[in-house]
Amino acid sequence: MRHKIILGTTRYGKSYYANKMFVNDQWNNYYGIYIDTQKSFPNHHYTYDEIDDLGFQEFRKIIYLPYKEELEYIIKWIMECGEKNAFMNTGCIIIIDEIHFYIGEHYNRNDSLEIAIMHLFEYGLRFNITAVAISHTITKVNKRIRDLCTEQIFFNSNLDISLKNYGIDINDKVKNHIEKKYHYVKRLYSHELLFMAPINEKGEEKLIEIYKP
Ligand SMILES: Nc1ncnc2c1ncn2[C@@H]1O[C@H](COP(=O)(O)OP(=O)(O)OP(=O)(O)O)[C@@H](O)[C@H]1O
Ligand SMILES: [Mg+2]
Repeated sequence: MRHKIILGTTRYGKSYYANKMFVNDQWNNYYGIYIDTQKSFPNHHYTYDEIDDLGFQEFRKIIYLPYKEELEYIIKWIMECGEKNAFMNTGCIIIIDEIHFYIGEHYNRNDSLEIAIMHLFEYGLRFNITAVAISHTITKVNKRIRDLCTEQIFFNSNLDISLKNYGIDINDKVKNHIEKKYHYVKRLYSHELLFMAPINEKGEEKLIEIYKP
């Protein structure tokens, strides 16, 4: 599965969408971790210590609020497991909500967490590890990471810069669609735009229309 980036105005449904995807059937067999910085999903939280006690093998669908050092450790651990082929049959997904908290617009090669995140995005797919970046501001997301996310998901429309960055023509059709709350547009590797209805409670996606530029 390709790395993904989810962009959009605050409260328009990015985290909700990612959370539903995380628990739905499509990703059901994946190992995974969702880095939830806002405690958006309080019922499911584990702390770092709890995860450590459980053992990382029990590591499916854990939603979690780490400190920077802890996130660095988790990413390194996942990558090490990947290098040992742990995810060849069952993939692994790591969703980093508010990714700009952890890695700056300009890559700091002296920051060990930034190095770990970059390594994840650069090499994760080799080991069947998919990364998902979420942010409300595209210009705050590291450019290299943006480039490595070959599937893009946009919520809301005051994101002209985001859309322009991906070469999307901000015509009225696109605008009207993502102005509606929880609606989103996906841009695939093929550059097709998928107009999507809000994800439902079960995490099922509903395509409204495909637009081939
Ligand atoms: N598809 C949906 N169906 C029903 N309710 C939704 C949907 N998407 C979002 N919501 C509601 O809207 C609220 C805000 O959504 P969410 O937390 O995903 O926003 P966000 O884009 O992540 O914002 P922020 O940038 O502040 O993190 C959610 O708590 C949820 O109650
Ligand atoms: Mg959010």
